[in-house]
Amino acid sequence: MALFEARELHLRFGDRVVLENVSLAFKAGKLSGIMGPNGAGKTTCFNVLTGRYKPNRGRVLLEGHDITGRPPQEIARLGVARSFQLMTLFDEFSVFENIAVALPATRARGYDPIGQAYADPALTWDVQQILESAGLAGRADDPAKALPYGARRALEIGVALACKPKLLFLDEPTAGLGSDGRARLADLVRKLKGTLTIVIIEHDMEFLFSLADEISVIHWGQVIARGTPAELKANPWVGASNLGRLN
Ligand SMILES: Nc1ncnc2c1ncn2[C@@H]1O[C@H](COP(=O)(O)OP(=O)(O)OP(=O)(O)O)[C@@H](O)[C@H]1O
Ligand SMILES: [Mg+2]
Repeated sequence: MALFEARELHLRFGDRVVLENVSLAFKAGKLSGIMGPNGAGKTTCFNVLTGRYKPNRGRVLLEGHDITGRPPQEIARLGVARSFQLMTLFDEFSVFENIAVALPATRARGYDPIGQAYADPALTWDVQQILESAGLAGRADDPAKALPYGARRALEIGVALACKPKLLFLDEPTAGLGSDGRARLADLVRKLKGTLTIVIIEHDMEFLFSLADEISVIHWGQVIARGTPAELKANPWVGASNLGRLN
């Protein structure tokens, strides 16, 4: 059984069909990719899977349980984390503090989450483990606004990891990064791979093809192809729609 499944999702905005019969399955511990041209419906699909939009038809299943239309906070609590195409960090806070406020344990305590994280060795340890996983251990005290762009993206992934998710959705993690930043991010994702289930929307084919176990191609709101990177490279549809450029 897949950890997470979408079955025959349909979504319209007014009379505009944005998702049509989209079925996807993400296996536990695997890295799945989603690619497709601008406006294909990829982010909208994430928005349906994470509860931001309710589909007009179809179902979303987490570990076999129907979670269709549940609110985003509830889906997050069930172990589904996401990063956004646009970044959402607390700029004035340090790297440590950005992770500290994202920990469910500090949030649950309500009052002064950052002070609590500094004062409680168990929480400090938790934050440090996450910074380690995100490759940010050496930057704990830097203010988020002082981070280079690539490190900001890593911090955003760290914030998502703070909820100890079973499944992590990343929407275009390499956007805006140069080749060094991409290589570093690829290293980070490769390290995370296998420790949780990951789904990545990405335009950078080289990045995605080198990391993904399976890729689905979305075009005009439909899944037009899916397979391993090797299968997709050989798929005439993918080549014909100019999505298979690897260089
Ligand atoms: N809230 C909304 N209301 C109306 N139309 C929307 C809404 N959100 C998305 N759309 C439309 O749905 C279509 C799919 O958009 P989406 O953002 O999912 O594409 P995408 O595949 O993520 O593209 P990109 O690669 O550029 O990020 C677009 O035509 C977009 O304008
Ligand atoms: Mg998008």
